[in-house]
Amino acid sequence: MGESKRKPKPRPRRCLRQLTFVVGVVLVVYCLLFVYNAPDANYGTTSWSPLRKTSTKLTPELLNNLSLGEDECKAAFPGLTKEIDDTVSKGPFTIKPSGDLGPLQGRIKDGQLYILHAQRRNDLSQDMLNARTASLHQLYRAILTSPSPLPDTIFTLNTGDAPFGTALQYSRAADPLIGSKDPNARSFLIPHFSFWSWPLPFVGSISSSSAQINALESSYLPNASHPNASWHNKISRAVWRGTAWYNSVHSPRLRQNLLQVTKEKPWADVQVLNWTISSSDTKQKGAVNAIPISEFCRYKYIIHTEGVAYSGRFSFTQMCKSVVITPPILWMMHTTHLVKPVYSGYLLGRDKRDKKGWEPAKRAMRGWALGYKKEEANMVFVEGDWSDLEETVEWLEKHPDVAEGIARRQREVVVGGGYHSPAAEACYWRAAIRGWASVMRTEGEWEELGVPFEAFSLSLDMGQ
Ligand SMILES: *[C@@H]1O[C@H](CO)[C@@H](O)[C@H](O)[C@H]1NC(C)=O
Ligand SMILES: *[C@@H]1O[C@H](CO)[C@@H](O)[C@H](O)[C@H]1NC(C)=O
Ligand SMILES: *[C@@H]1O[C@H](CO)[C@@H](O)[C@H](O)[C@H]1NC(C)=O
Ligand SMILES: *[C@@H]1O[C@H](CO)[C@@H](O)[C@H](O)[C@H]1NC(C)=O
Repeated sequence: MGESKRKPKPRPRRCLRQLTFVVGVVLVVYCLLFVYNAPDANYGTTSWSPLRKTSTKLTPELLNNLSLGEDECKAAFPGLTKEIDDTVSKGPFTIKPSGDLGPLQGRIKDGQLYILHAQRRNDLSQDMLNARTASLHQLYRAILTSPSPLPDTIFTLNTGDAPFGTALQYSRAADPLIGSKDPNARSFLIPHFSFWSWPLPFVGSISSSSAQINALESSYLPNASHPNASWHNKISRAVWRGTAWYNSVHSPRLRQNLLQVTKEKPWADVQVLNWTISSSDTKQKGAVNAIPISEFCRYKYIIHTEGVAYSGRFSFTQMCKSVVITPPILWMMHTTHLVKPVYSGYLLGRDKRDKKGWEPAKRAMRGWALGYKKEEANMVFVEGDWSDLEETVEWLEKHPDVAEGIARRQREVVVGGGYHSPAAEACYWRAAIRGWASVMRTEGEWEELGVPFEAFSLSLDMGQ
């Protein structure tokens, strides 16, 4: 019995064990490496890259040219019409006459614009009327400057804050599950009315702000007389101005939470707008603590909040060389797809540290997939309750080159790519009309022509 115990083990078996051990070690090392790299491997799952470079030289003449042809538009602004193309790819849909209480409907025929139904002016607030007037003029301008005829069509235009039903409108839900029940619903995104004008104190139009922002940003670029000018001289604080109560049903405490986490924090310049009007002078400026929209670009970090739906300020802050920090965006506007977000959880290394693994909220994932590497990103998405805002700003302050890169890429894509230029806006409107007309079908009885826009624009109520 004892003898058999002392019997040497057969060699092949020992070899096998050693081999198993080595293979095991290799597997463990491989897995560790793989896990370590996993977040990077998951990045960039969105299928479209907004950084595809144009071969067209984007001169000031070209960017102000409202009459670029369809092919010239495509070559100059690659990916500009992504939202339209996606909506067209959903296939045909039908519209019915909305009547005088529904959204505005109009007809384009032989290059002329007619209004078929519209809410009466008296039924609209001044803000709603301004939005509608601006958008109709934008459409009219794009028709008049078209180098080739646009197709005849009938359209529905919703200039309200929230997307609704099937229309040309300012935003759509990023989450495809929101409002997905109606198979006939289509949002054809249009440029915000601020591309025409936004008559708010300290706002104005995209093009006037764009010029102001260009001047401001160039003051942070070194030249012979100011060799030390630099992005790093921007204000190292996160800025926000707004009203506390303006929240969405999807994130009802968004603004209150923001005020809480930034209260008395040296890294934050977050203030509720104070509309106290103490003299005729402040009346001109609106809120006493407001700052002109271009002046937001003086800050390294801009906190973005959406409201009931999209926020019109977004198109402005997209032009700054600043790091926009926001919870995952819920409402897409016509160039929101240029955003390449990096999630704060990835910046802060949560996915490696936290045993349970960190991941973005499901709703964000459906709209935005997994985000981008910090070397590719042009915006930062933080937790929806702002709980990691402070850590994120601290992290960016400790990694100023990463912060500068995120800020630089935003301005490079949006402004450098000319996506908010007058030329791109006209290109976009015409593409939206062509896209809409290609899949729109009508039902019901329609008026032959309606009121010519030229008459409608002279304060004529429908039918008067
Ligand atoms: C604008 O573009 C069109 C189409 O390329 C061209 O024919 C026209 O000359 C351009 N206008 C200006 C002012 O550059
Ligand atoms: C250099 O930059 C400063 C600060 O922005 C500006 O005032 C000045 O006009 C610039 N000088 C030249 C030669 O561009
Ligand atoms: C720019 O920075 C350098 C190095 O910090 C310094 O020596 C120089 O005086 C600065 N120049 C100006 C014009 O401020
Ligand atoms: C708002 O501004 C007015 C005038 O400057 C000031 O008297 C008032 O205290 C401010 N209110 C708040 C809540 O800061």
